[in-house]
Amino acid sequence: MTLDISFSKAPLKKVDAAVICFYKGKEPSPPVSSLNYEVKGFIDHVLEKSKSFTGGFGQAELLMLPEDAPYSYVILLGCGDKDEIDNIKAEKLGGKLVAALDGKNIEGFEFFVDNDLIDAGEVAVHIATGAVLRAYKFEQYKSKNEEKDEDELKKKNLAKVHFVLFDTTRAKDLYAKESCVIEGICLARDLVNEPPNALYPDAYAKRIKTHLKPLGVEVEILDEKKMKKLGMGALLAVGQGSDNAPRMVIMRWRGDKPSNDAPLAFVGKGVTFDTGGISLKPGAGMEEMKMDMGGSASVVGLISALAARKAKVNVVGIVGLVENMPSARAYRPADIITSYSGKTIEVLNTDAEGRLVLADALEYVQDVYKPNLVIDLATLTGAIVVALGHEYCGTFVSDETLWGQLEHAGKDTGEALWRMPLDKVWKEEMEGTITDVQNMSKSRAAGSCTAAGFLWHFIEEGTAWAHMDIAGTAWIKKDKDIVPKYGTGFGVRILERFVAQNYEQS
Ligand code: BES
Ligand code: MG
Ligand code: ZN
Repeated sequence: MTLDISFSKAPLKKVDAAVICFYKGKEPSPPVSSLNYEVKGFIDHVLEKSKSFTGGFGQAELLMLPEDAPYSYVILLGCGDKDEIDNIKAEKLGGKLVAALDGKNIEGFEFFVDNDLIDAGEVAVHIATGAVLRAYKFEQYKSKNEEKDEDELKKKNLAKVHFVLFDTTRAKDLYAKESCVIEGICLARDLVNEPPNALYPDAYAKRIKTHLKPLGVEVEILDEKKMKKLGMGALLAVGQGSDNAPRMVIMRWRGDKPSNDAPLAFVGKGVTFDTGGISLKPGAGMEEMKMDMGGSASVVGLISALAARKAKVNVVGIVGLVENMPSARAYRPADIITSYSGKTIEVLNTDAEGRLVLADALEYVQDVYKPNLVIDLATLTGAIVVALGHEYCGTFVSDETLWGQLEHAGKDTGEALWRMPLDKVWKEEMEGTITDVQNMSKSRAAGSCTAAGFLWHFIEEGTAWAHMDIAGTAWIKKDKDIVPKYGTGFGVRILERFVAQNYEQS
């Protein structure tokens, strides 16, 4: 984690800057007056003069303080309407604040929380969450000190954020849980940002084990031999063109050991690089296909979050890890393959590989663990990006209650879903002419819906199922308030909340 977060009732005064909040119309939050007193009215003076700062939502004005002041800087943070501050807004504030301080040579700040807010502790925790999520950086491949001039080298990165508020107990309790989720999100982001030559299936599987085992998760890795024996012909076909052999990883978190209920199942597409295979993708932008394991990364991040906070629930996560490469050994269009359950599939396009990987993973998890609920995450179709862009995750759901629960968790976490139609028409469209099913429809229409229709063939009757096509949300090329560009970790937050809200008694 990039930021050290702490809480106390009194200010430390050992950091570079103090953050004080203003509401719309420059209305100061209560802590402003004491700081203003310490700096002999300097803040009042600046506020009066400033034409740009209005207290509008997300404004952050950095002021240098006189030499005898307790901090080098004060940051005026505009919080907008006081009555409108909710958790999502608080996170955005934290994110905007961190973004505004980027490159400003500030190593730490303390944030004076308005204790008059209805739940100041909760607000503080969400500001902290937004700050940490925005401050995330993926820098392990930058060699240190490379071609930086001396001034650049002396610049300090933001590392410490301290909150000053009365109800530190509430804030600390909440943050202890939230930080587990943040870690899961950052883990998912790291995995997505890794290059495909470092994160090929075997390396990925080992990394999952290294990370999750210490958290108490049982991790089982299936290698090619085991998968062959089990008859996972669909996943194996996708992987057969690569020198990097495929893996399947099964993660079990049993936080509710006495329960006999079937576990909740989460399934992730983990194509560590998608060239398209023999149905090769165009070269431009192909490098982005390192994110084609985004679904699996979110499943790993989710299990990590649940295990880290010792969630009282039983879940199983399963990810199919393969590299889709063209080669003399690669599977080809027209090949007929047989999935785990025995269904035959005609391959019409080797670039429609994600659904093949999911077919085996979905069938296997249902066969072995008999879950009542299955949720899969996959960067499955370019068509979902065309339809919904990068703001909404297209979600296909077989069950009304499940949709209600997911939508609710989405609204609470700010990870937005858009319900897509799951219609028998598309399931039928994926039936094969000479096989049971085929991996592409004859028409190009409704590409995300036909992909869901294909997956539906591998869902057992009576299983509540959601398919989240995260092709547009797993990877972004422009910063958002609490999500810096590239791997987003989308899915970890909403599903962690979904589990907490519906499957844990607290
Ligand atoms: N991994 C891609 C989908 C994708 C596209 C993810 C853009 C992220 C951004 C998937 O394997 C794929 O290639 N899908 C094809 C399916 C088609 C051949 C039926 C697509 O969307 O074009
Ligand atoms: Mg593909
Ligand atoms: Zn793919």
